[in-house]
Amino acid sequence: MGQRRLFLILLILGMFVFAIIQCTPQAEKPKDNRGPAYAGSATCANCHKDLTNSYTHNSHFNTSRMLTKPNSTDSLHLPDGEFVFNANTKVGVKNLKDGLYQSALINGKDQKTEHTDMVFGAGISAYTFAFWFGDKLMQMPLNYLTKEHQWVNSPGFPTDQIYFGRPIVARCLECHSSSVKINLVKSGDFGVEEELVKGSLIAGIDCERCHGPAAAHVEFHEANPTVKKATHMVSYKSLALTRKIDMCGVCHSGTGIKTLTSTFTFKPGDTLKTLPQYNEYRGEDADVHGKQKPLLEASLCYKVGKAECITCHDIHDNTKQSIQMYSNKCISCHTDVTHKTLPEKNKAVLAKNCIDCHMPVKESHAIGFQMSGSKEKFPYRLRTHRIAVYENLTTKLSK
Ligand code: HEC
Ligand code: HEC
Ligand code: HEC
Ligand code: HEC
Ligand code: HEC
Ligand code: HEC
Ligand code: HEC
Repeated sequence: MGQRRLFLILLILGMFVFAIIQCTPQAEKPKDNRGPAYAGSATCANCHKDLTNSYTHNSHFNTSRMLTKPNSTDSLHLPDGEFVFNANTKVGVKNLKDGLYQSALINGKDQKTEHTDMVFGAGISAYTFAFWFGDKLMQMPLNYLTKEHQWVNSPGFPTDQIYFGRPIVARCLECHSSSVKINLVKSGDFGVEEELVKGSLIAGIDCERCHGPAAAHVEFHEANPTVKKATHMVSYKSLALTRKIDMCGVCHSGTGIKTLTSTFTFKPGDTLKTLPQYNEYRGEDADVHGKQKPLLEASLCYKVGKAECITCHDIHDNTKQSIQMYSNKCISCHTDVTHKTLPEKNKAVLAKNCIDCHMPVKESHAIGFQMSGSKEKFPYRLRTHRIAVYENLTTKLSK
């Protein structure tokens, strides 16, 4: 073997060792905006690799993203478009080199153009967009519906004019991100306004948003690699049923609930405390939007059967479950339902689909998306989590 070749091999080996040292957990400890108690999600991958890989593709992780880099909208596959309020008033959407823009067009003239800095929604049904205006995050006039492939007026916005004036408040971020710091500033005689601290926002719902601060956990296991039992980490499985569904209820109890403090600091094991105006359940017609916890709590499957969120949902997975797979979960508890009163023709679907009859799709009263050139709205549809017998079903059964 020639000397040069040996030298080359040694050089490559040296580079390898250097690269490995650079990649060890000790060397790479990303700072986390939330403070020293947090390790940052990138760290979790060092020991929980498979789980982290699938998690980064699921909708919690992707429920909000910053779009400040030039190509960051590419993965969303959003077409250019236009929304028509009337012949003179339109909103235009354009993909340009450095990102996505929405413009107010009055008589064809561009009156105001904003760059999309952030997106809300993982793309299951809708995206909401936002731009920075000083220290405020403002909602853009248009939403995009991913199934209908259409640009629509944002829910709750005026139906006859272009609106750039609604701030995305920290309350949205409490459910759709991992953290943001806010300053409250006086406005007028009595009011207070929120200012977001720009660099503090951690988009998406990351590991520590659900599991709580984990720096001590990471530090311990890095120092004690032979210990295979989790330390400094609350075990979800050991929690009481009510504490378990509180952990999801932080964000799945509806947008109407009021908590005493920001929910960003909620940790597994905490009790979700809400102000009295939060009614557990307002009858069958409760709005379904984001309200899975109170609806499930009103079901016998929960009250008697102790069915909890993770009975049916795999939190870290990124594969969409079929109706058949969900139905298997029902059947695992309901092994011998007779369905005496069901007509024979309906019994064919029984084995494959318990969902359409007992968790029917409902429209949210709170949200609808106005279509271009029309006052009509696309409804926002969700399944109710009040699992029960529904008499007048309008849902068509899928086979
Ligand atoms: C140096 C290795 C290491 C790192 C880094 C690490 N963990 Fe762990 N973690 C472990 C070990 C070991 C266990 C116990 C065995 C298991 O459940 O995989 C564990 C278990 C867990 C559990 C289950 C606890 C239980 O008892 O049910 C959770 C939740 C968890 N880790 C979250 C995290 C989060 C969040 C991060 C990133 C902030 C993280 N871990 C980073 C080593 C690590
Ligand atoms: C939306 C809330 C949520 C988020 C976000 C989340 N987890 Fe979990 N995690 C749970 C729940 C609930 C359980 C217990 C149920 C289970 O075992 O599936 C759990 C269990 C675990 C466990 C122990 C069981 C197992 O499957 O090994 C580990 C380890 C873990 N999580 C790590 C992570 C890491 C790492 C991330 C980020 C990549 C993360 N989790 C993100 C809710 C969450
Ligand atoms: C920090 C807030 C937050 C917490 C905590 C949280 N979720 Fe979510 N969850 C969301 C948001 C926001 C979405 C909507 C994601 C999207 O599509 O943008 C969502 C979506 C979901 C979905 C639909 C995902 C899909 O792919 O269809 C399920 C199921 C779900 N959550 C279950 C849970 C369970 C179970 C827990 C508790 C272990 C939990 N969530 C905890 C905020 C949260
Ligand atoms: C209490 C928690 C909560 C608050 C507050 C909240 N959301 Fe949501 N949001 C959810 C949950 C949970 C979902 C998942 C579907 C559902 O149950 O409605 C969701 C769904 C969405 C979706 C659709 C995602 C999809 O593709 O299905 C968008 C977009 C969205 N929210 C934007 C916002 C904006 C903008 C705000 C503030 C004006 C906001 N949300 C406030 C919890 C919340
Ligand atoms: C963890 C076990 C468990 C799971 C999972 C479960 N259930 Fe139940 N469910 C129960 C128990 C226990 C009851 C109360 C006793 C009974 O009626 O059998 C109940 C009650 C019901 C009832 C009667 C409700 C009423 O108000 O009279 C229906 C309908 C039902 N379940 C359907 C379902 C469907 C559909 C699923 C799947 C989406 C499901 N269940 C999942 C345990 C469970
Ligand atoms: C008995 C089974 C079961 C339980 C328990 C359950 N879910 Fe679901 N969940 C479903 C089914 C079925 C769907 C509809 C899936 C579909 O249409 O693809 C669903 C859908 C969802 C969605 C997506 C929005 C929608 O309605 O389409 C969210 C968010 C969600 N569940 C959250 C939760 C939370 C939070 C809990 C606990 C409070 C919970 N689920 C408990 C069966 C269950
Ligand atoms: C075509 C609609 C339909 C489908 C599909 C369906 N159910 Fe039902 N279910 C009903 C109706 C209606 C009742 C009440 C009358 C009766 O029992 O015949 C009922 C009653 C029930 C009850 C309460 C009565 C009892 O016997 O305990 C349970 C539990 C139940 N269903 C579970 C399931 C499960 C699990 C599946 C899927 C394997 C399923 N259902 C599929 C319509 C349906």
